[in-house]
Amino acid sequence: MTRKMQKSSLSNTILRLQIVFLMLCVGSIITNSQAQRKAKPLNDNTISLDSSAEQALLMAQSLIDKPTRLPKTTDAEGKLNTTSSADWVSGFFPGVLWYLYEYKRDTVLLNYARNYTARVEKEKNNKRTHDLGFMLYCSFGNGYRITGDTTYREVLLTGAESLASRYNPVIGLLRSWDWSNDKQWQYPVIIDNMMNLELLFWASKISGNPKYREIAISHADRTMANHFRPDYSTYHVVSYDTVTGIPEMKVTHQGYADESAWSRGQAWGLYGFTMAYRETKDSKYLEQAKRIADFILNHPNLPADKIPYWDFNAPDIPNAKRDASAGAVIASALIELSGYVDKSLAKKYLNVAKTQLRTLSSPEYLAKKGTNGNFILKHSVGHFTGNIEVDVPLTYADYYYIEALLRLINNGKQ
Ligand code: GLY
Repeated sequence: MTRKMQKSSLSNTILRLQIVFLMLCVGSIITNSQAQRKAKPLNDNTISLDSSAEQALLMAQSLIDKPTRLPKTTDAEGKLNTTSSADWVSGFFPGVLWYLYEYKRDTVLLNYARNYTARVEKEKNNKRTHDLGFMLYCSFGNGYRITGDTTYREVLLTGAESLASRYNPVIGLLRSWDWSNDKQWQYPVIIDNMMNLELLFWASKISGNPKYREIAISHADRTMANHFRPDYSTYHVVSYDTVTGIPEMKVTHQGYADESAWSRGQAWGLYGFTMAYRETKDSKYLEQAKRIADFILNHPNLPADKIPYWDFNAPDIPNAKRDASAGAVIASALIELSGYVDKSLAKKYLNVAKTQLRTLSSPEYLAKKGTNGNFILKHSVGHFTGNIEVDVPLTYADYYYIEALLRLINNGKQ
């Protein structure tokens, strides 16, 4: 080997050593930063949201070639049960996808959110249900809030008009159901209907037409006057006489008894009046929400983990089934309500909501990936006395669970 060749081989070796050294340095920087990321304590709520996103993606994939179907619950074998857009629960899964997209900013979630939202669109012309708030505001409402897509705004405004068509000015309330059972009610209004007012408040803000807001306020006022007992628990169904406009019947449909406190009904009331206060800033709604919260939080039958039995007066407590959906709705409402009250009350509400979310995020309630029909939460009750959806996943439990987690992260706003 010539001198010149020896010199060049030496400088090649030095160059190679330098490259190896550089690679080791870069590698170590990457490894260190990964380790730092791993070492950083992860917030429990973000862990639950990440695993929920994985589960929601599995759900979305599983129905992608069934373009008219939306998730509802599971059947007796634990298999996914779906529904058409006409069911009151159709908007919740699109809403789950929007919330998770908002959290993760992931394009796959966005595409699924758009896809599943479009499946609900035709319900904007449905004048046979009061549930358009649930169906359209959770799907298109979140989609519009997040993307500003004006086609979504049109769907929502058409839906608000359809919902407003169910208002009877003599009674001052929106009619909930068009069907009757053996009780032969004339004009049934259920506490759940408070939830649909959010779409009407939104429609007045966006369109400038006060009509929707006026209907919502009248409905909230009449519900406050007629649905609640002296202890601020709520009846499920109040039916009105269509001639006089006064209540003719106060009963239950999904609760244990006419005079019992059906848990999800209490949850809808709490959430509904908290939302009505947000939209009007009328203190009477805030007081109502606080009183409902008192009823729930001070109830001797509310378990220590704060997930209610399906009815506060279920006869077999403490062996009665729990309702995760009621727990999730209450948690979400309490987090919002905590933003409207003094510090000590806010702390009390947040503590209960955090306990609920901790319970729901535990293996007892949070499903393992790929199980539970790809729903996020286990153990909800749809209609116990009808033996329908007892101790199953329900799509709305998932929606309000995700909403509550996001509200907690974002301090009450969502
Ligand atoms: N809105 C019907 C239910 O809560 O079951």
